[in-house]
Amino acid sequence: MTLPRSLAAVASACCLTLLPLVAASPASASGGTAVPDRPLRQLAADDHLRVGTAVDMSALADDAAYRRLAGSEFSTVTPENVMKWEAIEPRQGEYDYAPADRLVDFARKHGQKVRGHVLVWHNQLPSWLTSGDFSADQLREILHRHITDTVRHFKGRVWQWDVVNEAFNEDGTLRDSIWLRELGPGYIADAFRWAHEADPHALLFYNDYNTEWTGPKSDAVHDLVGRLRAEGVPVDGVGFQGHLGIQYGLPTGMAANFARFDKLGLATAVTEADVRMPLPADADKLATQAEGYRLLLDACLRTRHCISFTVWGFTDKYSWVPGTFPGEGAANLYDEGYRPKPAYRTLRSELAGRARAGGAE
Ligand code: G3I
Repeated sequence: MTLPRSLAAVASACCLTLLPLVAASPASASGGTAVPDRPLRQLAADDHLRVGTAVDMSALADDAAYRRLAGSEFSTVTPENVMKWEAIEPRQGEYDYAPADRLVDFARKHGQKVRGHVLVWHNQLPSWLTSGDFSADQLREILHRHITDTVRHFKGRVWQWDVVNEAFNEDGTLRDSIWLRELGPGYIADAFRWAHEADPHALLFYNDYNTEWTGPKSDAVHDLVGRLRAEGVPVDGVGFQGHLGIQYGLPTGMAANFARFDKLGLATAVTEADVRMPLPADADKLATQAEGYRLLLDACLRTRHCISFTVWGFTDKYSWVPGTFPGEGAANLYDEGYRPKPAYRTLRSELAGRARAGGAE
């Protein structure tokens, strides 16, 4: 298949130019070259990169500080939950697109693009579906209809779709899900084909976690997307979620891993970055966290067709982490009182110190 538009536009552009880092941000600079006091989205635009955040729709409605930063710092948004199947079709045949439409409107008003998340996943499925006792043929038709209706509803308004999310286990085997069990592994190619039919211009991504570095899981994703492309299945990109934890040590080799996906002719993106830590936070942990964010951004900036860098929420006030990993948290760029953390300043510094061709437009 042909390169996605974003890639075709830069296919002839030469290499990234990596410039030396400038000195630290104004908050920590003492005499060095200060990072210009500009929002992340502006600094990223200079690097032909979109920088995004997942958005919690309750916070967007109720919290003015959250709304202001969501609109001013980021050039893409991802619905954290409201495009998931359980939210869009809570009862069979009854659709509720209203919260997701509100986010798409917010994005339009703020000059932002939208990452659609997510069409096929094993999680956050409506209970009518998981307990419905459907035959394989019925489930296939239900999935086809869900993808078609959802993608058509947002046609022309969603830039990238996470079409299939988290289909692999850590050892590289396919995850046991309702989709694999009932439809077999072909559900993945079908999902991409159906999404492409519904909106031929949206960029279609496979998205997963613990695939940022090489290993059995990212090898399996690489094999999958390479095979799909060879078969003419319309997959445009691979999303690396980027959920890190400082207690595991920071990963190495991410740029080399992103590069092998780039070589397949695919777009890449960091889609859900956050770096959690055992609580309480302290200065050392926050510095390690900042380095974790920097490594993720660096891998993206070194990859010619890495087109967006998205954080999974920007404030610790609304993070998913403490609810899932008790005793852990402080994973985001701003603390609960919206004070920017070292990680925020590090991202600004990294974006301001780089200049690369290619990327998002
Ligand atoms: O919708 C119910 C609501 O009716 C109820 O009042 C409330 C009470 O707690 O719960 C609500 O559901 C919650 C849902 O988010 C929507 O807010 C669930 O309890 C909660 O578990 C769920 O968590 C989400 C999680 O995905 C579910 O797997 C997180 O917010 C969301 O950040 C997280 O995001 C995922 C990505 O989609 C995929 N990659 C990993 C990432 C982090 O887990």
